[in-house]
Amino acid sequence: NERDSLYIINEFAQKHFSSNMFETDEGKAIGKSYFIERGFREDIIRKFQLGYCLDNGSDLTETAIKKGYKQDYLVKVGLTKVKENRRFDFFRGRVMFPIHSISGRVLGFGGRTLKADKGIAKYFNSPESQIYNKSRILYGLYFAKGAIIKQDECLLVEGYTDVISLHQSGVENVVASSGTSLTKEQIKLIKRYTQTITILYDGDAAGIKASFRGIDLILEEGMNVNVILFPDGDDPDSYSRKVSTEELQTYIRDNKQDFISFKADVLLKDGADDPIKRAELIKAIVSSIALIPDAITRSVYIKECAGIFDMEEATLVVELNKIRKGQL
Ligand code: CTP
Ligand code: MN
Ligand code: MN
Ligand code: MN
Ligand code: MN
Repeated sequence: NERDSLYIINEFAQKHFSSNMFETDEGKAIGKSYFIERGFREDIIRKFQLGYCLDNGSDLTETAIKKGYKQDYLVKVGLTKVKENRRFDFFRGRVMFPIHSISGRVLGFGGRTLKADKGIAKYFNSPESQIYNKSRILYGLYFAKGAIIKQDECLLVEGYTDVISLHQSGVENVVASSGTSLTKEQIKLIKRYTQTITILYDGDAAGIKASFRGIDLILEEGMNVNVILFPDGDDPDSYSRKVSTEELQTYIRDNKQDFISFKADVLLKDGADDPIKRAELIKAIVSSIALIPDAITRSVYIKECAGIFDMEEATLVVELNKIRKGQL
């Protein structure tokens, strides 16, 4: 059927991008050396089946068509674009990150540009198709699921390279939401394997904002959520390149905060002594707690919150109930 044909085309493309990178002069000089300069080891490059799409226009498309693959399907999975009767490769000149299903089939690709030009999108991603639905995919889940079950925890990062670098550092229970707009469907995928998600988004304003949003979505699902914040602007990949493997693992172990202390830390940064700001902060935390479906869990967190801010639990419960009424 058609779905199968799309999978088969993607698998062909993945192998083609990979042999481009390891066996052609251009691929070695541009694609492979890009990954090596980023610090990716060759075994990790092979494990994640990374590759390179030649920059000559339509190498992948023409090779595929010569082998009998249908142009129609190449277009459907987004590998080929047709314009004024000419066809060309969508990902030309980019390094390629195949995106796998839970069972390891290639659903689509992320392609990173090697150009510094700010006008060009850093990543191109496969378009939505019968087999690729961005909001229902977690990059790296295929490689992570065993470790997630074993450690009963899933680390959630923003990007492809964060997943890969953490694996290289021996941290394997990690998936990426591929950008910052985490979805309910992605959380439900994780829930099949564990109840606990730890967010390791980029340590910039966008990453912090997205962590706040992620916290609420995860709590609504009835799951536990922690956050690990990286120093000024670092993401897990850039940080892992600054420290040793041991230091990275220690950082992850020692800088895990539950969502309450994370929100408190971030929000206290501006105006800890201002009573109005302090009240706003407490309300922001209570509104996250209000999303938790289970009453006992809510009361455990209310207790923690009361402790942190030295407040009567009863006062927080009044606020909690007010917010929950508003949610109905
Ligand atoms: N992303 C995307 N399209 C973009 C930018 C980002 O799909 N134009 C997704 C990618 O999955 C990317 C993730 O969002 O991996 C995080 O984005 P960002 O932090 O900007 O990139 P990094 O993953 O850190 O990539 P790099 O280290 O190569 O710059
Ligand atoms: Mn980012
Ligand atoms: Mn990043
Ligand atoms: Mn990065
Ligand atoms: Mn390192």
